[in-house]
Amino acid sequence: MKIALGVGGGIAAYKAAELARLLMERGHQVETILTSAAQQFIQPLTFAALTGRKVITGLFTSGGSDDVLSSAIEHIRVAQENDLLLVAPATADLLGKFAAGLAPDFLTTTYLAFPGPVVLAPAMNTNMWEHAATQANVSTLRERGNWIVPPGSGLLACGMVGPGRLADPAEIALAVEGALHPSRDLAAETVLITAGPTQEPLDPVRYLTNRSSGKMGYALAEAAQARGARVLLVSGPVNLPVPPGVEMTRVRTARQMRDAVMELLGQATMIVKAAAVADFHLEAVPEHKVKKNPGRFHLELSATPDILAEVGARRGAHQMLIGFAAETQDLVREARRKMETKNCDMVVGNLVGSEGTGFDSDENAVVLVTRNGEEISVPAAPKRGIAHRIFDEALRLRTAFPTAP
Ligand code: PMT
Repeated sequence: MKIALGVGGGIAAYKAAELARLLMERGHQVETILTSAAQQFIQPLTFAALTGRKVITGLFTSGGSDDVLSSAIEHIRVAQENDLLLVAPATADLLGKFAAGLAPDFLTTTYLAFPGPVVLAPAMNTNMWEHAATQANVSTLRERGNWIVPPGSGLLACGMVGPGRLADPAEIALAVEGALHPSRDLAAETVLITAGPTQEPLDPVRYLTNRSSGKMGYALAEAAQARGARVLLVSGPVNLPVPPGVEMTRVRTARQMRDAVMELLGQATMIVKAAAVADFHLEAVPEHKVKKNPGRFHLELSATPDILAEVGARRGAHQMLIGFAAETQDLVREARRKMETKNCDMVVGNLVGSEGTGFDSDENAVVLVTRNGEEISVPAAPKRGIAHRIFDEALRLRTAFPTAP
C-alpha cells in the first residue's frame, strides 16, 4: 500500500527514519513529508535514501516556473495517491492545527485534503502531552476517526520521566496495518459483541461495577464494521460514542446483558464476549437508600448468569465463539481452562492489573489461545490493532478448523 509519512519537528523525528524502513520492509511504498521544523532535526536525504523517493519539504518548493501549478496542487496529489496518512512524530502544534482545521503548510494541507485513514503518533514533553489543550485535541481527532498511537512512558530528551516518548515503530506499524485493512472479509458475518462493565445495584444510589471502559469491545465493533460485518453491540454503561453503523443495545446489569445476548444470539455468526460482566449481584435490591446508621452494610451476593457458558452450550455449528479471560496470573492456563469449560473457539487472554494495558487503557497486549492448541502472543498495540488481529486469527481458525460445538 502507499503511505504518506508526515514527520513533525521534534527530537523523535529521527525515529521516523526507522519507521519508514520498517514500513518499506513490510512491502509499503512510503512518500515522506518533512515539516520545516522537522528539517531542523533530520535531513530529507535520509528519507530519500531509505524510501527511494523525493522528499516533500514545503508547499512551494518545486523551484522552476513550469512547476508553479503542479507545486500548488501537489498536496492534493499526495492526498489522492496515498492509501494512508501517518504522522510521526505528531507534535502538539500539529495536533492543534489538525484539530482546528488550520493548513499553513504542506503537511497540514495534505491532512485536510486526505480522504483515507489517518494514523497519528504523538511525541512531546510530558507536560505538553498532559495539557488539557493537547488532550482535548487528541479527543477531537480520535472522535473524527483518526487513529492515535499513544506515546510511551520513559526518560524524555528534555530530562523528564513520563508519557511523551514516540511509540515503538513496530507498534506504529501495527496500527498502520489495522487502519489500512481494506478488505471486507467479514462482509458475510453478523458479529455479536459485548462490551464494557455491568453495574449491579445495591440500593437506588449504589452499585457494584469494575474498571472496564468499553474501549476493547468498541474497538472490536469498529474493526468488524470496517471489515464489512453487520455488528450487534451489547454494551454496559460506558462513556464512548456509538461507532457509526453499529446496532446498539444498551444494558446495565449482567441479567440484562444475558437477556439481550440471548435475544440476538440467533442472528450471530460470530460472538465476541469482551464485556467485563460482574460475577456477583444482590438478588433483593432494597427499594430505598440504605442509611449510614448503624455503620454497617452487610451484602450477601449471588452469582450472576454466566453468559459465555450459556452461549457456549447453546450455539450452533456455524457460530464461532470468542471469549475473553481477564487474569492477574496464570494467564494462558486460565484462558485455556475457560476455552474448554465454556466451549469457545478462541479465548483472548488479557493480563490485567498493570498500567498501560487491559482495563481503561488505549492499548492492550493479549495472548490468543485457540481450540486447536495454538498460543499466539500479540504485543502491546492500540486496541483497534488488537481487534483486527483477533478477527484475522478468527477467520484463519474458521478456515483451517471449521467450528465444532
Ligand atoms: O473495557 P476496557 O477498559 O477496554 O478493558 C478491556 C477488558 C479488560 C475488559 C477486556 O479486554 C476483557 O478482558 N474482558 C473480559 C473481562 C472479564 O470479565 O473476564 P473474566 O475472565 O471474568 O470472564 C471471562 C469471560 O466470561 C469473558 O468473556 C466475560 O465476558 C464472560 N463472562 C463473565 C462473567 C459472566 N457472568 N458472564 C460472562 O459471560
